[in-house]
Amino acid sequence: MNESYLNTVINDDCKNHLPRIEDLSIDLFLSDIPYGISLDRWDVLHNNTNSALLGCSPAQVGKPGFKRRGKPINGWSQADRNIGKEYQEWCSSWSGLLFPKMKDGSSLFVFGARRTLHRVINAFEDSGFILKDVLAWKKVSAHHRAQRASNVFRKRGLDQEAKEWEGWRLGNLAPIYEPIAWFFKPYRLTVTDNLLKHKVGAVNIEACKTNGLAPTNLLEFGFENNEKRVHEAQKPLSVLEFLIKLTTREDQVVLDPFMGSGTTAAACMRLKRNFIGFEINKDYYDRSIQRLEIFKNVNLRKKLLN
Ligand SMILES: C[S@@+](CC[C@H](N)C(=O)[O-])C[C@H]1O[C@@H](n2cnc3c(N)ncnc32)[C@H](O)[C@@H]1O
Repeated sequence: MNESYLNTVINDDCKNHLPRIEDLSIDLFLSDIPYGISLDRWDVLHNNTNSALLGCSPAQVGKPGFKRRGKPINGWSQADRNIGKEYQEWCSSWSGLLFPKMKDGSSLFVFGARRTLHRVINAFEDSGFILKDVLAWKKVSAHHRAQRASNVFRKRGLDQEAKEWEGWRLGNLAPIYEPIAWFFKPYRLTVTDNLLKHKVGAVNIEACKTNGLAPTNLLEFGFENNEKRVHEAQKPLSVLEFLIKLTTREDQVVLDPFMGSGTTAAACMRLKRNFIGFEINKDYYDRSIQRLEIFKNVNLRKKLLN
């Protein structure tokens, strides 16, 4: 059954295909799933019809991040408060489909948002997976988008208040890291017996050393200089390659049902792993295929993208 999915990205809703993947055939699940924080239309996974969502305030025009989101959700309405629950329901709608497909003892890395990842963890635990750790991917830099309270007051003509609130900001700290939930599928007997049987469940520390040092659960990776950016939520190849090298060997199979611009597939091709990928959005799908063209000549044994 996997032959038709192997080393291909399918342009469709992954939920239509996950049940058709061969049971116990996936060595690693690695996916940067929608975070449910309304970054874009594909990231709105709840029924909240707040008109500010995906709107655009004048201050956001021309800005790279959250360019289509209006003011933040203030949590006042019941619809705002249901967002987390509804996002978890969406995660559950596919996390259960994964369970039979993963090999016993295999790893699952799920990129998520700091404020919604607990919902992913609940959904995955309810589907039978065990949380192993939450890794922190530290980015090279982060924009501090919190407005200065004094500037806002000054615009309203409130000079006294502007002076009083000098130095204060309306918002968060600069978001320098993103969490990655690391799960494993339960296995029988011991991790060693499982490694012998299924060839998953150990970590390749030697392959993942940086300057001779063993990796920690703080991952520091950025984009390569020549890495083209084609998706607003694109992840650097380096961080995905690290996770692939850490948990798989050549020729093993990596599943990413939310492929975006194809970063997981590109990383697999560079590292000679097989991949199975889905992307619902035609435009991103086209971009991923275009992007993967350049890897076609990489030494892969299986058929690629044709
Ligand atoms: C966070 S982005 C992935 C970005 C990717 N890591 C990259 O580097 O380009 C998530 C992607 O999942 C896609 N998506 C959302 N729901 C989907 C579904 N049900 N099936 C397949 N793809 C889906 C979205 O269109 C979006 O491109």
